[in-house]
Amino acid sequence: MNTSQQIVLAARPHGHVNSADFRHEEAPVPPVEEGGIEIESLLISIDPAIRGWLDDRPSYLPPVAIGAPIRALGIARVTASRNDEFPPGTIVRGFVGWQQRQVIATPAGTWQKLDPAQDVPLEHHLGILGMTGLTAWAGVNDILQPQLGHTVLVSGASGAVGTVAVQLAKHAGAYVIGIAGGAEKCAMVTSLGADAVIDRKDRDWPTQLKRAAPNGIDRLFENAGGPMFESAINLLNDHARIALCGLIDGYNLEQRPAGPSNFGMLLTKRVLTQGFIVLDYMDRANEVEAYLANLIASGQMRAVQTVLSSLDQLPDAFIESFTNGHPGKLIVDLQGKTASERSMTESAANQK
Ligand SMILES: NC(=O)c1ccc[n+]([C@@H]2O[C@H](COP(=O)([O-])OP(=O)(O)OC[C@H]3O[C@@H](n4cnc5c(N)ncnc54)[C@H](OP(=O)(O)O)[C@@H]3O)[C@@H](O)[C@H]2O)c1
Repeated sequence: MNTSQQIVLAARPHGHVNSADFRHEEAPVPPVEEGGIEIESLLISIDPAIRGWLDDRPSYLPPVAIGAPIRALGIARVTASRNDEFPPGTIVRGFVGWQQRQVIATPAGTWQKLDPAQDVPLEHHLGILGMTGLTAWAGVNDILQPQLGHTVLVSGASGAVGTVAVQLAKHAGAYVIGIAGGAEKCAMVTSLGADAVIDRKDRDWPTQLKRAAPNGIDRLFENAGGPMFESAINLLNDHARIALCGLIDGYNLEQRPAGPSNFGMLLTKRVLTQGFIVLDYMDRANEVEAYLANLIASGQMRAVQTVLSSLDQLPDAFIESFTNGHPGKLIVDLQGKTASERSMTESAANQK
């Protein structure tokens, strides 16, 4: 019988997510019916948003059911088809979940066909040329619209979205401050062009932040929330803008924080604050992908990513991303490409 390895939700996490919340299973893969396809996952994206989907509370997507594979974006290849629009070999992007193989009864609409260029690593289509790049672009280019001379602060700057946001803000001519955790990731953010980087793991971070922004902050790309968000609000200039992208600091708290204690400053400083969800920008996805691909090809932007190589690494990598996150976009490659094969294709794509 055709079977698939998968990782399912064993129990709803209470507070910090841990390995007991997940279970590894082997599940049967049913035959393909008329109009359907069978796909095998190639790449699976690890995103902080998954933590929200594990909770049973109202959100922009329904909660993952107990016993169901964990919802996750990914890239897959069609292995069997009874649908002329998706012949075997077609590469598709969509919610593959934490599983090797599955049958999709009606692929049209929910699965996007990809025609990836040979010299661009496929994983870029989950990161900088996928939702990650689109998220950063929406926050920086559509909402914040930084100008030459503006001071832009990016929290979560070493992560998937942050590494792109830092580079886009620099590209717009702003003075860019990043926040990252630990010396190594701070150095990586500096290498992307940030003018100053605050180490959030350093006790002295409030002083560092004030020093880094002597003229205040004009634009804030907020990925984290928590105490650093409050300090950043204190430093905002009148008529500043905030692109509220994520609040990762609270994702593992049983009781989500009510909000920053200095919320009233958003009023007195007349701050334009825009929460956003990348799914609302899907109609701009092709245009933004072409824009970012061009910046990479001309050497003006770099893709930062960490690629792991087995389904079993998913739970721990996801859990660790809230404490000691990997740099850039975190992806699991189920084809198990070696690091040297990968770095050869990457450097070719980054040098284009
Ligand atoms: N609105 C949308 O549509 C949308 C779309 C995608 C992502 N998001 C959100 O955007 C944020 C970044 O996503 P991502 O994909 O870039 O995630 P990511 O790759 O996991 O990066 C997040 C980074 O945040 C830092 N971090 C972790 N815990 C933190 C804490 N408690 N306080 C401050 N920083 C912390 C970590 O870096 P360091 O350890 O180096 O600090 C981590 O690498 C998340 O909040 C995510 O939910 C929103």
